[in-house]
Amino acid sequence: MKKYNLAVVGASGAVGEEILRVIEEIDFPLAKLVLLASKRSAGNSVEFNAKEIIIQELTETIFDEEDIEIALFSAGGSVSAKYAPFAVKAGAVVIDNTSHFRMDENVPLVVPEVNPEDIALWRQTGIIANPNCSTIQMLQALKPLDDAYDLIRVDASTYQATSGAGKTAMEELVTQMQDFFAFKLSESEHKSFNHQIALNLIPQIDVFLENDYTKEEIKMVNETKKILHKDVELSATCVRVPVLRGHSESLSLTFDSDVDANEARELLRKAPNIIIIDNPSQNEYPMPAGCVDQNETFIGRIRKDLYRDNMLHLWVVADNLRVGAATNAVRIAQKWIEMEERL
Ligand code: A2P
Repeated sequence: MKKYNLAVVGASGAVGEEILRVIEEIDFPLAKLVLLASKRSAGNSVEFNAKEIIIQELTETIFDEEDIEIALFSAGGSVSAKYAPFAVKAGAVVIDNTSHFRMDENVPLVVPEVNPEDIALWRQTGIIANPNCSTIQMLQALKPLDDAYDLIRVDASTYQATSGAGKTAMEELVTQMQDFFAFKLSESEHKSFNHQIALNLIPQIDVFLENDYTKEEIKMVNETKKILHKDVELSATCVRVPVLRGHSESLSLTFDSDVDANEARELLRKAPNIIIIDNPSQNEYPMPAGCVDQNETFIGRIRKDLYRDNMLHLWVVADNLRVGAATNAVRIAQKWIEMEERL
């Protein structure tokens, strides 16, 4: 089997580090691993498969020099905008974890369990986009239900962990909690978020748009339509919660046909990379603390609406750094390899 030269851009970041862990755990056909970040962390080393690998500075020429074939970008939108074209020019396929290319009509936006066939469109630009973390776990749950009952509307509330905003945001929550125990929370700084996140909830993720929805909420709307190739109605309220890892979502789904909660539960149980934890009598349901470092999406609280036969409610939890970012990107890479080798 062919092995590939892989670059991780943003290797020192929250998602970059998780990509390394996922690649370590699976049997990824790796010839060479090149770790890239800014000048700030160039020269630092990272452990991979019990060996130290030195992080190099991201430059315009590095992809050519290192003969990179697959480049996973997780260093922010502006870094992808500037450097992804150099990776493509050097002959690599770029799998981009930022929002920069997601809505470009020539760039496929892929959740491998939902629309793997779209990967074939990568040749149009050399780039495949990884969706927003909240969209990925939601669509893994929606796809089997849409296939069975024809989804027409989603009403979502998300409960998103601080790691979605990067390492410094996680540190901000920890520091504020330490400040709380030192009786100085009121003096604690907040830079990553507009408000104190410790012991609080912030019903704003990213900036507000003219229609009073946030950019994060509209990402869920637009990305869902693009991935499902369907004009489904969606309304979301995205909330930042004082959790380090693991996004949770309360989803209310409306279908074109009547649903049965037991049948829906069985459909989800059979769906790829989904684990059902749905045992109300034992107080069992998914929670963020249980999903850390897991590559599956956890679903529970599956129940019919009290009034409408065509509505279902469920609760979906996943590790945002894994399922919502690193794992999805690596699964796209694996699928891309499978498709290329079939040609
Ligand atoms: P660095 O650690 O050198 O700043 P997070 O999402 O956890 O904040 O991580 C962001 C990642 O993106 C880090 O690996 C960071 O590297 C990287 N990064 C940020 N800006 C740049 C840049 N201009 N060039 C290359 N990598 C960057």
